Amino acid sequence: MPDFPYPLEPFKIKTVESIPITTRAQREKFLADAKGNIFRVPSRGITIDLLTDSGTGAMSDTQWAAMMTGDEAYATSKSWEKLEATAQEIFGMPYILPAHQGRGAEHLLFSVMLKDMEYPVIPGNGHFDTTMGHILHAGGSGADCIGSWAEDPDSPYPFKGDIEENILSDAIELAGPERVPLVLITLTANTAAGQPVSMRCIKEVREVCDRYEIPLFFDAARFAENAYFIKTREPGMANLSVGEIVKEMFSYADGATMSSKKDGLVNIGGMIVCRDKELYKKLAAMGTLFEGFPTYGGQAGRDIAALEVGIREVLDENYLRWRTGQTKYVGDNLRERGVPIIWPPGGHAVYLNISRAMEHMPLEYYPGIAFQNAIYIEGGVRVCEIGTVLAGRDPKSGEDNHPRFELVRLAIPRRVYTQTHMDYVVEVVSRVYEKRMDLKGMKFTYEPEVLRHFTAEYEEVEFSVANT
Ligand code: F0G
Repeated sequence: MPDFPYPLEPFKIKTVESIPITTRAQREKFLADAKGNIFRVPSRGITIDLLTDSGTGAMSDTQWAAMMTGDEAYATSKSWEKLEATAQEIFGMPYILPAHQGRGAEHLLFSVMLKDMEYPVIPGNGHFDTTMGHILHAGGSGADCIGSWAEDPDSPYPFKGDIEENILSDAIELAGPERVPLVLITLTANTAAGQPVSMRCIKEVREVCDRYEIPLFFDAARFAENAYFIKTREPGMANLSVGEIVKEMFSYADGATMSSKKDGLVNIGGMIVCRDKELYKKLAAMGTLFEGFPTYGGQAGRDIAALEVGIREVLDENYLRWRTGQTKYVGDNLRERGVPIIWPPGGHAVYLNISRAMEHMPLEYYPGIAFQNAIYIEGGVRVCEIGTVLAGRDPKSGEDNHPRFELVRLAIPRRVYTQTHMDYVVEVVSRVYEKRMDLKGMKFTYEPEVLRHFTAEYEEVEFSVANT
């Protein structure tokens, strides 16, 4: 493939869906009616939706064809038998348990593995929020062992999702190994700007786990994107196929949870894979209670059929080159226009570095929400604050929590948007960046106690640096 400056879409379009083209006045009304909360703006008012890459991808003709062959038998359907065999082959794990989506799998894993443990601690490279929620729900807590490379938004270090071995051993020693039921590596690290994890790190973490006899699990929602980064960024890996890299990655793990809504290339679904028969039996018993019989786990037979095709399709290297190339294209172009982003761009999203872009606005005015809303007003593009509002308040002090960086995420759905859509996004975001000094601050007019970002209401407030 010649080295063009544009990532070439390795597909052509067979079905199209119209997207709304709105006026600024219409967008202002949509956002006002939504009380300033972008989650509450109806999708009929959104031109380009970069809220999430989860469950928002486009399925292939082959997946749609497979849907028609979905076997809706309650138990041990043909679709399930195919998925089970394919997942066993791809991940090299003998036991596969379906769940309705990633958090369903997390619920099962943590409720089984943390059961009857006193103050369990789960170290990792930044647990995703539903993951953390389920760890807390099962009576545990997390320990963030991501390396210091994650502190520098400009460092070109290619695997900023890596765990640092010393931080991990210290966390295990501090908790006491008997209180660490598993270590969890998220591939790619969604809370650390979608950065990948190296094979070197996976091996090192496995060694630490062996030393303490602790199982190693993956949160494998974006396993194929992570494997592609290993192939293209890690010395000595270029000659392996992505499929071989995935096999090797999983060979170091005892199991994984997965939201199929990302690299499964489907709109709903999830699973757990594992090696241990006894663990599988416990998970399957819990799964029957909460998700459904262990051969469908909350999914229709047709969904399972599409997933079986999806996890094979996602390993296509032409697809992964384009997929990561599209994200890089947006990141490179924003950076060229002066917009600060977390560098290098990850696999599924570009993260704007609002701590830098909006350094003039104190965090009490929620600059991430201000920037996110301005992007919507400018061009109907929906993006998402991953910052102070998402982080919530400390339950004891009542003060806002402040994450490492104030970010706005541009998450790119898989196989949905074209090159022109991405050029449009770059233009809209750059224009907002140019106007950033004119943006108003935000104030809650309604603030729910939990998960406030989903249902909060806001108004704009005049803000000047003199206020601080
Ligand atoms: N783990 C990771 C790393 C995720 O990114 C997500 C979801 C989940 C688990 C939960 O999976 O949604 O199927 O229950 N991430 C979405 C996002 C919601 O927008 O990043 P789920």
